[in-house]
Amino acid sequence: MGRKMKRLTCKYCCKVFFRILLFIGCMICLLYICKVGLDAETCDLRAVDPNHIKNAHAFARRVEEAQCRPAFARLEMDRLFRNRYNMALESFVKKDRNLNESLYQYGPPFGFRHYLKELNDILDMMTNNDLPMRPGSKDCKRCIVIGSGGILHGLQLGHAINKYDVVIRLNNAAVHGYERDVGNKTNIRMTYPEGAPVSEQEYFSNSLFVTVLFKYVDFLWLKAVLKNETLSTWDRLFFWKSVSEKLPLKANQIRILNPLIVKETALDILQFSPPRQIWWGWNKNVPTIGAIATVLATHLCDEVSIAGFGYDLNQPDMPLHYYDNLCMGAMNRQPMHDVSKERKLLQTLVREGVVKDLSGGLHCEFCPSHQTRGVATDA
Ligand SMILES: *[C@@H]1O[C@H](CO)[C@@H](O)[C@H](O)[C@H]1NC(C)=O
Ligand SMILES: *[C@@H]1O[C@H](CO)[C@@H](O)[C@H](O)[C@H]1NC(C)=O
Ligand SMILES: *[C@@H]1O[C@H](CO)[C@@H](O)[C@H](O)[C@H]1NC(C)=O
Repeated sequence: MGRKMKRLTCKYCCKVFFRILLFIGCMICLLYICKVGLDAETCDLRAVDPNHIKNAHAFARRVEEAQCRPAFARLEMDRLFRNRYNMALESFVKKDRNLNESLYQYGPPFGFRHYLKELNDILDMMTNNDLPMRPGSKDCKRCIVIGSGGILHGLQLGHAINKYDVVIRLNNAAVHGYERDVGNKTNIRMTYPEGAPVSEQEYFSNSLFVTVLFKYVDFLWLKAVLKNETLSTWDRLFFWKSVSEKLPLKANQIRILNPLIVKETALDILQFSPPRQIWWGWNKNVPTIGAIATVLATHLCDEVSIAGFGYDLNQPDMPLHYYDNLCMGAMNRQPMHDVSKERKLLQTLVREGVVKDLSGGLHCEFCPSHQTRGVATDA
């Protein structure tokens, strides 16, 4: 009996100790975030050379007018990444069928290992996780993934972007107020909890909300969203910035991204090292949501374009996003992603013609010198 008591007390002490440790960890993070926030310089968005705009528009028109080739993106990915790209992968997690065994291999974001109960609870609450919406239900769908890059500013690609069958947007990238540059149509918004837009204006009743689940609390968050409930204060501690929970979404708009697409992007295509148990810190093996969304688009669509991509870390004083005035240099400070490897991958996809880059930040097919080009000079 006594020994049992002792063990229980010990267990309790461990728990308390762990929580204290966690609290200290959170405080350190907070300080770090404040520091990064304070020393971030601002970079003003510059005007773009009218000729550059004209060339970008002409290029977008050429892409639009070319014939749509069914399954083109998938076939090309299969050609480029033989045995590293699975043409048969589903885009979203489905209910009511035996989950594919490879989903058990890794934990989030690469799989659902140890999280099946949470997953099933969520799937039970989702009314429709079968087929994705088929906008226009065309046989050959063209999709565009909109990155958040400052390079979109002033290019006025909104009109061209609206012509795509499926417009995929990432995290909290704003539409409202930036329609001229990024269009006003959103078919899919793909995000992790911290990235979900705060403004109700960014939610549309006919667009899909695709969630990427990275950690335990992300499952709790999705549950709260589905039930229109609020998370407990304790659970909130585990997010690295505040999250919105009461989202103006109906259950049938919500999808869970198939984690095998994250795994394919990270471990197979980018060949990042497989996840290992590490106690603190990051592996740098999690791709950015932009890279994941581009690979998703090759599974989901026949032809794929992208815009707003291309972080050029050699130009730290260029604007990072089209919707704020952070500088490119801010990207150097994040510990999660290996952006230069991703940039190379995306450049390869554009050079090989698998995807078209409408804003030319990765590989510019409409710039006079046929090279990568940033935002043009002051006008
Ligand atoms: C499960 O996934 C693997 C690899 O991702 C794939 O090769 C296999 O066909 C899938 N099995 C089923 C039953 O979908
Ligand atoms: C986008 O803008 C056009 C023209 O201003 C408008 O007709 C259309 O309804 C808008 N679409 C959305 C989804 O807001
Ligand atoms: C969610 O709850 C809020 C009040 O807390 C309510 O105003 C809103 O209509 C609810 N949303 C849905 C979709 O039920």
